[in-house]
Amino acid sequence: MKHQITFFPSLLSLSVDESETVLESALRQGFRVPKACDAGVCHLCRARLLLGRARHKHSKLEMDASAAALEPVFCCLLHPLSDLHLEIERVLAPGQLPSQEVTVTIQSIEQAAPDVKIVQLLLPAGKKIEYYGGQYLQILLDSENVAAFSIANAPRSDRTVELHIREAQDSDSYALLAKRLKEGELLRVSLPHGETTRFKWQDADKLLFIAASTGYSQFKAILEEMAALGDERPVTLYWGARTAKDLYRHDAIKSFAFLHPNLKYIPVVSDQPEWPARKGLVHQEVLKDLKSDFSGWTLVCGGSPAMVYATFDDFVAAGMKPEQMISDVFDYAPRDPA
Ligand code: FES
Repeated sequence: MKHQITFFPSLLSLSVDESETVLESALRQGFRVPKACDAGVCHLCRARLLLGRARHKHSKLEMDASAAALEPVFCCLLHPLSDLHLEIERVLAPGQLPSQEVTVTIQSIEQAAPDVKIVQLLLPAGKKIEYYGGQYLQILLDSENVAAFSIANAPRSDRTVELHIREAQDSDSYALLAKRLKEGELLRVSLPHGETTRFKWQDADKLLFIAASTGYSQFKAILEEMAALGDERPVTLYWGARTAKDLYRHDAIKSFAFLHPNLKYIPVVSDQPEWPARKGLVHQEVLKDLKSDFSGWTLVCGGSPAMVYATFDDFVAAGMKPEQMISDVFDYAPRDPA
């Protein structure tokens, strides 16, 4: 029999079967709970039982919130017998990781397209950096300004990660960043951030990724992570840009799709009449292909807020359910409620 467990103060909740301990079930479902021993010894998973009834894994002793008020309980030894409220710190939801600030060094800069730089950053030695494909980092430019970029790969064994940076001439934060884009420069960054990760589409059967310009970097990381995990679900990636030159990793993603047949890659350019393949705005080309049939699709969209909201609005008007689309933009650039 399953019971609803709610953690306080985070208010995260999950369903746990009586046959499992709270810790076993939480870990299996992707939650992160402090723990070391799984045996009631280290006390890292200690909690306060605020509501409900539970039993001890070994002694079978039953406890309820009133009896347990003075004594801590341990999630690794706790089988629920009813819905529970547990007070415990440092629990993170699936896909959440604690972010940290570190100093990185710019190792190299490549001009990948007329207005795109690929910057290799060297992460500090001796720091464990955890990360999920699809997350981003923030470059802390000064006390008021940050610049956010998707991390385009899982940290490599040589401690490097890459960022794909569009030279946004109209952006104040890019103007600040541009002065710092030099090999050997030290940057303070905060990472990881963002919840556009595999935990958001665990149950999806068909994935459709829509990238505009350097939005591609997020999908590069996600696709590489899927390949590393052996996730061979069908994925369609549309990558839109103004011209073929702006598809700055076109050959690389074509090669990746050749090696991973679950990936269908469709490049789209909007501003180059002689381009021999798909021409137009990327989201409109997606709409044409779907013929307004969104059933079964989970869509992930990466690009500027203007592009993501235009895509969202046109797709909802064409019949997509709002909850079918995932994007970081919805979190970091929410629309005015008005
Ligand atoms: S994990 Fe050590 S006491 Fe629960």
